[in-house]
Amino acid sequence: MSGNSTYQPKTGLTRWLDSRLPILRLAHDTMTTFPTPRNLNVWYTFGAILTFFLAVQIVTGIVLAMHFLPSAVLTNGGTSSVAFDSVESIMRDVNYGWLLRYMHANGASMFFLAVYIHMFRGLYYGSSKAPREILWILGVLIYVVMVATAFFGYVLPWGQMSFWAATVITNLFSALDQVVPHMGGAHAPGIGTMIAQWLWGGFAVGDATLNRFFSLHYLLPFVIAGLVGLHIWALHVPGNNNPLGIDVQGPQDTVPFHPYYTVKDGFYLCLFVIIYAFLVFFHPDFVGNPDNYTPANPLVTPPHIVPEWYLLPFYAMLRSIPQKLFGVLVLFGALATLLFVPWLDTSRVRSMRFRPMMKQFFWVFVADCILLGYLGSQEPQAVWHLGGIDVPLLWPARIGTLYYFVFFFVVMPFLPLIETPLERPKSIAEAVLGTAQPQAAE
Ligand code: HEM
Repeated sequence: MSGNSTYQPKTGLTRWLDSRLPILRLAHDTMTTFPTPRNLNVWYTFGAILTFFLAVQIVTGIVLAMHFLPSAVLTNGGTSSVAFDSVESIMRDVNYGWLLRYMHANGASMFFLAVYIHMFRGLYYGSSKAPREILWILGVLIYVVMVATAFFGYVLPWGQMSFWAATVITNLFSALDQVVPHMGGAHAPGIGTMIAQWLWGGFAVGDATLNRFFSLHYLLPFVIAGLVGLHIWALHVPGNNNPLGIDVQGPQDTVPFHPYYTVKDGFYLCLFVIIYAFLVFFHPDFVGNPDNYTPANPLVTPPHIVPEWYLLPFYAMLRSIPQKLFGVLVLFGALATLLFVPWLDTSRVRSMRFRPMMKQFFWVFVADCILLGYLGSQEPQAVWHLGGIDVPLLWPARIGTLYYFVFFFVVMPFLPLIETPLERPKSIAEAVLGTAQPQAAE
């Protein structure tokens, strides 16, 4: 809220700085006095938790990069590679290298867990709706860059899963061959293969691929940091939404960000970090794949190639479609759909607390995403034995994929036509304090 700053520089130095670069004023106005709805619950602490994990990933990643060697050149008589060995050396020889690596690998999982909670929260409270559309779109862009960063990072240890995940995902582009089969003669590669080869820097995933993926894996977190800056800027223009989804009407509805939310964010951050520490110190490989402790071997395809858990729902969608190009379109379509959520949701009521029907579709959607994640982790030919009937898992994956799109393109726009929302409180103060009387926001 520019223009009504309450910052008062107290010393000669801060007055000098304020008239040249009012950075302390910015920090004061956005993180101290910023009027924040007084009813934000635990789900509103995840933005701060995410900021913390972005910092953890950048710091641990920079130190890891000091010891990591992005080379697929073979070692040990051709059984290993420079990159794989350098990761083993980080684990065994570098002081606290094991800690750095486990913090980084499990940090990625915690980061995704937090981002999913943050996104579902946004959907539930209608936080993407006007006037927060740009805030939401920036969030979706952050998420897409996070997915790319995590994918590039997974390739770096150059284990079996690294190599084969890189091969499967980059090969998705070859689906475009079905659109433009040949460029420059019947024997020339199709456009998709050309793109894949351009991405690899060769005729298969190899040394050049590893090198460029390392370069991008180092770069993209800083792109995320820049997008987060814009995201928080876009948040500070309209201010926070809140669990009631109703607008702030005056000072009685808000409290200053500090100390109320600095303490609340800090408390829940500590709880989240306890779970993180438990993983790092007691189950550091819980979210990892044992196959990635086998050095990459282009001649041996692992029986079951799976991405990290946080990408499994999308993997299930991709595999549920038999036609490759259509599968790739569904995969990218599922991500692109998120960009349009602010307009797909046509209800005039933001928060699902007051939308009895939508709430149920929402929880089915959450269950659907978890189910798709589970299905993505299973072998493609797996079957469920249900009371003597064999159900190929392909079918629940198809139904799950269908529901994902039905939720966004049918339920979101059309349910408001038949749903009667519950009555909402007149103001946040009335809901929280039982009175709409103005109170000092101190
Ligand atoms: C690195 C990742 C991210 C960081 C650091 C981040 C940071 C934040 C912070 C600090 C807030 C304010 C506090 C809160 O509401 O929790 C916030 C709010 C919000 N974020 Fe994010 N965010 C990230 C990713 C995302 C993603 C992926 C989305 C959606 C696709 C998203 C959508 C939103 C929305 C809609 C709000 C406003 C919530 C409301 O006021 O009700 N964010 N974010």
